[in-house]
Amino acid sequence: MNDTNSSSSFRDWMAQVQGRTEQALARVLPEASIAPQRLHEAMRYAVLGGGKRVRPLLAHAAGELAGADATELDRVACAVELIHAYSLVHDDMPCMDDDVLRRGKPTVHVEFDEATALLAGDALQTLAFQVLAEAPIGKDPSRQLGMITQLAVAAGSRGMAGGQAIDLASVGVQLGRAELEFMHVHKTGALIRAAVLLGARAGGALDPDELDRLDHYAKVVGLLFQVVDDILDAAADTATLGKTAGKDAAHDKPTYVSLLGLGEARKLADDMLVDARNTLRPFGARAHRLEQLADYVVHRAF
Ligand code: IPE
Ligand code: IPE
Ligand code: MG
Ligand code: MG
Ligand code: MG
Repeated sequence: MNDTNSSSSFRDWMAQVQGRTEQALARVLPEASIAPQRLHEAMRYAVLGGGKRVRPLLAHAAGELAGADATELDRVACAVELIHAYSLVHDDMPCMDDDVLRRGKPTVHVEFDEATALLAGDALQTLAFQVLAEAPIGKDPSRQLGMITQLAVAAGSRGMAGGQAIDLASVGVQLGRAELEFMHVHKTGALIRAAVLLGARAGGALDPDELDRLDHYAKVVGLLFQVVDDILDAAADTATLGKTAGKDAAHDKPTYVSLLGLGEARKLADDMLVDARNTLRPFGARAHRLEQLADYVVHRAF
């Protein structure tokens, strides 16, 4: 298959996974007509009709590699995306990044109000665990319990929420390379890593070497995702991003761009992409989607 065909089939695959994710999310979210209507409306507003769905794409790609059932993968993908959407609602609130634009629309606290945004985030988080727990995934309930625990750890104080706490405590502080990596690995890397590993765990067992490789890939792509987010914040425009450009510098946040400069940050992203690709090599064609996704993470426009 030549390059043109392979990239167009990747786009088709992405559109298909994004479409089924949208449908699955629309099904699991309570209808806006159900009381309390305003809360349900805010939850649907936060989740539906936007976003790249990178975490669902990673969950599906890893799940396909491990032979997981696609409908069960939809629930894994939804759970991770619901946690992600909750993290964005809270990240944008005035007590955190104080942003007014997200996915090309007013942020939830602007469109609704702060208390509704807070509760929508809370309810999205608990809905994620409901979706993961309420029906079987795989044949082994103890394995499913392990998946629920894994998502909880990735989202909590040892994962995303912990990383967000470090982010808030680091305003105006120029972190060193190791500290910045620690922050990014937690605030963004942990959930992306979980998306990959939960997708894989929904399928059949991988051998230990394969699991190690997948975990290394997941960690690299998780950090890489935030390195590129830092680059885009500095280098792209608001219309393209669908969120306010330049806000990291405006808020005096330590980022890979403030640490290394744009050129070195881009070089780091390219080096990390090579690492991710090399890690997947022994999987051969089975890891094709994961490889394409790593490439997409680096070369995306928003
Ligand atoms: C933005 O995530 C916040 C970060 C963790 C960097 P995404 O870039 O995945 O946002 P959406 O879901 O596509 O809007
Ligand atoms: C967000 O990082 C990380 C989480 C939401 C957990 P950012 O604050 O850089 O994300 P954006 O740039 O607002 O999307
Ligand atoms: Mg933030
Ligand atoms: Mg932010
Ligand atoms: Mg950012």
